[in-house]
Amino acid sequence: MTEVDWDKLRAAAVEAAQLAYCPYSGLRVGAAAVVDDGRLVTGCNVENAAYGVGLCAECTMAGQLRLTGGGRLVAVACRSGSGDLLMPCGRCRQILFELGGPDCLMDTPAGPAPMSEVLPHAFGPGDLP
Ligand code: THU
Repeated sequence: MTEVDWDKLRAAAVEAAQLAYCPYSGLRVGAAAVVDDGRLVTGCNVENAAYGVGLCAECTMAGQLRLTGGGRLVAVACRSGSGDLLMPCGRCRQILFELGGPDCLMDTPAGPAPMSEVLPHAFGPGDLP
């Protein structure tokens, strides 16, 4: 796997955020990831009148990962529609950990960091019998 093009990944997240359905919060969120086969997958948040069932951008990206051929996440960026860096919520950190593992890189305010730092002491597939 070649070097991650972070600028391209961040731009893809901002672009995906433009497609958000967020009439309740008004916060457009986009997620973009490089997959281990080199392709790029994206997602956006999809809200609901029943607030609690809204989908985060990382969740819809997880669906796109599976629907476009599966594989493992290598690097992830989350951005608002106006380009601000956003960190994934706790639930989404768990989802990203499942699909990318501890070495998957996440764009953070301090630069790219492994998921083992973004979700330390994570519960994961290895904890199941
Ligand atoms: N949101 C995401 O899409 N990803 C996150 O990791 C955090 C929050 C969305 C959910 C909701 O549509 C909006 O941001 C405000 O919480």
